[in-house]
Amino acid sequence: MNGKVTISHIKADIGSLPGHSAVYGPVLETVEKYVKNNSSGLLSDFYISHVGDDIQITMIHNRGIDDSRVHKLAWDAFKAGTEVAKKVGLYGAGQDLLKDAFSGNIKGMGPGVAEMEITPRKSEPFIVYMMDKTEPGAFNFPIYKMFADPFNTPGLVIDNNMHEGFVFEIWDIINGKKIELSTPQDTYDILAMIGSKSKYVIKRVYTKPSHEKLPDENVAVISTDKLSFIAGEYVGKDDPAGIVRIQSGLPASGESLEAFSHPFLVSGWMRGSFNGPLMPVGQKDAKMTRFDGPPRVVALGFVLKDGKLSGPVDMFDDPAFDGARRTAVDIVDYLRRMGPFEPHRLPDEDMEYTTLPRILQKLQPRFQPVDTGKKASRKKVQVREGD
Ligand code: F6R
Ligand code: MG
Ligand code: MG
Repeated sequence: MNGKVTISHIKADIGSLPGHSAVYGPVLETVEKYVKNNSSGLLSDFYISHVGDDIQITMIHNRGIDDSRVHKLAWDAFKAGTEVAKKVGLYGAGQDLLKDAFSGNIKGMGPGVAEMEITPRKSEPFIVYMMDKTEPGAFNFPIYKMFADPFNTPGLVIDNNMHEGFVFEIWDIINGKKIELSTPQDTYDILAMIGSKSKYVIKRVYTKPSHEKLPDENVAVISTDKLSFIAGEYVGKDDPAGIVRIQSGLPASGESLEAFSHPFLVSGWMRGSFNGPLMPVGQKDAKMTRFDGPPRVVALGFVLKDGKLSGPVDMFDDPAFDGARRTAVDIVDYLRRMGPFEPHRLPDEDMEYTTLPRILQKLQPRFQPVDTGKKASRKKVQVREGD
């Protein structure tokens, strides 16, 4: 044992009710019971939660990331939950379990995975963020705000350990490549990429070797699984989760949460096809209603000691976030009036994995060539000043 601890967060939609709105109590309980009964000697602690139609399992162990026994436990727990979901006829029962048999690693099988191996501090506080009705790139904006924007995180200016900046690992999820860039020096390069949130996603954030309290450590991780790439067709967006370590040379709890105080636009929502505001909510409001949304994020705050979790605190269950929620609803009212038009609806390239191409395909035989008037367009047109 190297004194390291692994936090593995694995989530899946295995059925919900009445549509893609909320998890069902008995299914949640079945998953919890399965993990409880089968984790002895494997996990030192775990916590089961939910947001929208996704069940979320946070697990603590010392087996490192990508451990097949830990992944299999989550997979089998979701399988057990799926049995109950099927029995009562939940909608989309077993939806995210895309393969028949477990094959050593849950990655690429449907569930979303965010895990990091850490050297635990004397007190190890962290927040698990869980989003529904959106995609991994939805984390780009808040993670950047937390770890790189001094207007969000004054610690970047004031705290000497944060002043040196952080290292961002960014994945190009279309081409399967990754790059590491450093703040503050590479800030503009980072922004040049992560604004394209359906292509570039922040996967991990590390401290630099110069960090006095926590050198070279993984301090944030996001699930980056793209269900549509795995399944080759629309199977729901890839509702992501992320783990962010906080305090003592890292963003404070409040600096981390502050990144969600502005309900920024994310893609997903109804049919995975619309832009909408991300609304921070408490666990009690973690259900999808209006237009299958709006997309929501829940934040659970824990501390970890000797492999045991204390908490969580339901961080967005607080009137301090009422303003963000109100703004989100105003944005919803505004956007919804656009119906199926861009930019409320996603642009063409993002609709590729939805069912829209099938509709457009059907229309193909009815298309006629257009007289493009190429010759006419070559004529120089006199433009008068002032036109
Ligand atoms: C989005 C989502 C829902 C469904 C919608 C239609 O991620 O899960 O918005 O896309 O409710 O669902 P189906 O096609 O299953 O009737
Ligand atoms: Mg669903
Ligand atoms: Mg979901």
